[in-house]
Amino acid sequence: MASLGEIMAGGREPVARGVSTKNVGLRGVTVADTAISDVDGQAGRLLYRGYSIEVLAERSCYEEVVHLLVMGDMPTRLELSSLRDALSAGRSLSPEAVGLLRAFAPRTKPVEVLQAVSAALAETDPAPGEAGRDAERRRALDLTGKMASLTAAWHRIRQGLDPVPSSFDLGHAADFLRMLNGSDPDPALARDLDVALILHADHSMNASTFVARAVASTRAHLYASISAALGALSGELHGGANAQVMEMLQEIGDLHAVEEYVRSRLEAGERIMGMGHAVYDTDDPRAVILREMSRRTGERLGDTRWYELTRRVQEATQRSFRERKGGDIYPNVDMYSASLYHVMGIPRDLFTPVFAAARVAGWSAHVIEERFAEAAEKPQLYRPLSDYVGQYCGPAACEYVPLEKRV
Ligand code: COA
Repeated sequence: MASLGEIMAGGREPVARGVSTKNVGLRGVTVADTAISDVDGQAGRLLYRGYSIEVLAERSCYEEVVHLLVMGDMPTRLELSSLRDALSAGRSLSPEAVGLLRAFAPRTKPVEVLQAVSAALAETDPAPGEAGRDAERRRALDLTGKMASLTAAWHRIRQGLDPVPSSFDLGHAADFLRMLNGSDPDPALARDLDVALILHADHSMNASTFVARAVASTRAHLYASISAALGALSGELHGGANAQVMEMLQEIGDLHAVEEYVRSRLEAGERIMGMGHAVYDTDDPRAVILREMSRRTGERLGDTRWYELTRRVQEATQRSFRERKGGDIYPNVDMYSASLYHVMGIPRDLFTPVFAAARVAGWSAHVIEERFAEAAEKPQLYRPLSDYVGQYCGPAACEYVPLEKRV
């Protein structure tokens, strides 16, 4: 077999224009300009369009943040009221959408249902041919409403219950809890969820957002981008980690078992879910807020066991990590959202859909930016390269052996 050098010397044509620089996993590679959010991994800072996440979590509601991300600025009272109406209308599910949900086997994972139904919603778009930024914003708000109601409706349907219709009178987070449980939520829990949605609404160029933008760059519709992003989010190294954290806490079960659990996992070269981040070298600011919420809500509801367990896992992992690797590791956004959602009564397999119900606003904002921003460096179509490491059979392609002659 000829070597790659020989093949290249034989006049193999370059497959794409531009200078090839290899970077496996795209770490440290900037692929787009964005005005949506900024993560400073050294300082532990997260901004949505210039506003710090701490201020938004303390003073805003999720609907204001959706306006900020999707429409581009903080809303006036009037704008907020019309955005609330758009989200409420989005939460209302058509008989077709409910019919789609009823077609799944009850065991189907909620995040997979969301992924499939988000793509199929393209067929229910009232004006599918409508193009332009305003049309995409309309779709974005509709999908943001629907991600919550689809999650809640699927949870009801898989239990053999009817979906609870959405309400125009409640905020997005409160209505989500009402549609999930069939009763008006405790206002403090609704506010907890509201803040959790704010904290998960965007996070610059993470894996699912990159996927959403790459799909948008092909000029596929918004529904295709959101569906693809949901697939990326579902993985345990990304948005699937919050459910894995809960599974880990339930497996550990007891504070005395934490040290041994963490030690044996790390010794086996396994990862502790909810710990570590590709960008933050310090505290993830969202984890700091969620940790406090988990503690406070646990205390208020008289169940701090899961918060305490999480805290102990964090400390044991940090200690062990320091001893083994001589460096630091910090909890990420998924570490304390798990215990928080659990004490709020949200089932474990809905943790990632709740993440998606928040992040859909960020994904949509990125898709709109990808399609319509006039950034100088914006690519027309994402098209990275790969190094071929398969077999070469000489300057010509390999000889084809018919099936009956292959041994
Ligand atoms: N538990 C144990 N070790 C971890 C770890 C974790 N959660 N996260 C990273 N590490 C270790 C790796 O094993 C690696 O060690 P090595 O250099 O000896 O091989 C080192 O830290 C760097 O890992 P790497 O995967 O290169 O770091 P990263 O910054 O790319 O990782 C994550 C980011 C999120 C993929 C990683 O921290 C992880 O897998 N976390 C658990 C999953 C999770 O919580 N995901 C949600 C993210 S918001």
